[in-house]
Amino acid sequence: MFSSQTYIQRRAVLKNSLQGGLLLFLGNEETGMNYTDNTYHFRQDSTFLYYFGLDKVGLAAIIDLESGEEWIVGDEITMDDVIWAGPQPTLLAQALEVGVTQVLPKSALETKIKGSLSIGKSVHYLPPYRPEHTFKLHQLTGWALGEIAHKVSQEFVMAVINQRSYKTDEEIIEMDKAVDISAQMHLNAIKATQAGKYEYEIVGVVHGTARSGGGDLAYPIILSVNGQTLHNHYHGNRLTSGKLVLGDFGAEAVSHYAGDITRTWPVDRVFTQKQKEIYQIVLDANLNVIDALRPGITYLDCHLIAWRTVAEGLKDLGLLKGDIDEMLTLGVPALFMPHGVGHMIGLDVHDMENLGEDLIGYREGMTRSSLLGLKSLRLAKELEAGFVLTVEPGLYFIPELIQQWHSQGKFLEYVNYDALKDYFDFGGVRIEDNYLITHDGARLIGAPIPKTIAEIEALRA
Ligand code: GLY
Ligand code: MN
Ligand code: MN
Repeated sequence: MFSSQTYIQRRAVLKNSLQGGLLLFLGNEETGMNYTDNTYHFRQDSTFLYYFGLDKVGLAAIIDLESGEEWIVGDEITMDDVIWAGPQPTLLAQALEVGVTQVLPKSALETKIKGSLSIGKSVHYLPPYRPEHTFKLHQLTGWALGEIAHKVSQEFVMAVINQRSYKTDEEIIEMDKAVDISAQMHLNAIKATQAGKYEYEIVGVVHGTARSGGGDLAYPIILSVNGQTLHNHYHGNRLTSGKLVLGDFGAEAVSHYAGDITRTWPVDRVFTQKQKEIYQIVLDANLNVIDALRPGITYLDCHLIAWRTVAEGLKDLGLLKGDIDEMLTLGVPALFMPHGVGHMIGLDVHDMENLGEDLIGYREGMTRSSLLGLKSLRLAKELEAGFVLTVEPGLYFIPELIQQWHSQGKFLEYVNYDALKDYFDFGGVRIEDNYLITHDGARLIGAPIPKTIAEIEALRA
C-alpha cells in the first residue's frame, strides 16, 4: 500500500474531473471454487485498489461529489471471524490508513444509494465484470438485472482511464519490482527445462517463483511446446528434443502491479539453425518496435513495424514473396502474427480492460480494424509519456490457419504455401517486454532479461 497521501491525492483528482452525484466503488468478494468455503485466490478490484488501497474482502466505497465526503463500506468482523481467520483492525482504522475518515455498515449502503436516486442524484458506477457486481448493483439501485450494464457511467469510466493511464514514479517502482520477479520466473523456467520433463514441472517452478516474490501470478501461466496456440494453458506435454518452449508469464508485486513477459527457448541447450532464423526475426521485430517508442507515435504504427519486420524476414527465408507494402495493407502478416503488438499494463495485466478495450486503446475517431491480427490490437492510439505498455511481437506457424488460407486460395501471390509445410511442427516464438513511455522515448521496466540467442543459450551452459 502507498501512503495515505497517494490515495487522498488520487481521489482529489477524480473528484475534480466529475460533476455531481455519488461515485460507487465495488470491492471484490471471495468466490467458491466447488463449495462456498473453498475459494479461488482472492483478487481485489483494481480501481478499488487504485483509489482506496485496501486489499480486503467484501468492501465498497462511496464518494459524494457534492459534499466531497468519502466512506469505506463494510462490516466489522465477528468473534467467529477472529477464531477462523484471525483478528483485524477495525474498519475505521483501515479507512484511516488510506485517508478516509468515515465508515458505513453494508446494511446502510442500499438506503444511501436508493435515497440518492429518489432525489434525482446520479449514482455513477463502473462496468460490472463479475456476476456478483451485477447482482449487487441490482440490489442497491432496484434496477432490473438486464439494465445494470446499460447504466454504467461513461463519465466515471473516462475519468478513471484518464488517471490510471499515466503511471507515477511510485507506481513505476512497483512495476519494476513486478517485472524483476517475472524475470526470475523466466530464468528459473529456462534453467529447469530438460528433455523428458513435462511442461507442468516447469509450470510448478514458475508459479513457485511468483509466490516467492511475495505476490502471485498476474495471469494464468502460458507455457507450451505448442507456442503456436497463443494462450496455451495446457501443460501436459512432454518436452522433447528439437522443440521450442514458449513461456508467457508474469508476477504481480505485493502491491498488485503486474509484469507480463514472454521468452522462447529450446528444449535443448542450443537453438537449431531453423529456430535461430525464426527467433532472430521476432527479436528484430521486438527491437525495431522498441526503437520507435516515443510520445506521438501511434501503437498501430508500432504494430505495422512488427508486421513489416516479420514479413521482410519471412521473405528473406523464401516463405513470403512480393511487395511488402501490399502485404501490410492486405494483412498478409497476420498469417504469422495474428495478434496485436501489445497493450497497456499496470494494476491489471491488460490494464483497465474491464472499463472497455476501445476506450483505453483507441481515441475518438479511430476505428478498430476487422482484419485478423489488427482486430486484436488493444492499443492503437498515440503514445503519451507515462503510459506503460507491452511490446510483444510473435511469429507462429499454425497449421490449421495456413491450411485454411491455402485451401481458400488466399494470397497465393504472396505466400509460399509449399515451403511452409516444413514448418508445421515448428510451434511459435514470442518475445515480450514492458516499457514506460518517457518525454523523449521509452525506458525498460525492470532489469534487462536475457533475450538474444547467445544470452538464452548461455543460461544453459
Ligand atoms: N499475457 C497475455 C498477453 O501477453 O497479453
Ligand atoms: Mn504476455
Ligand atoms: Mn501481453
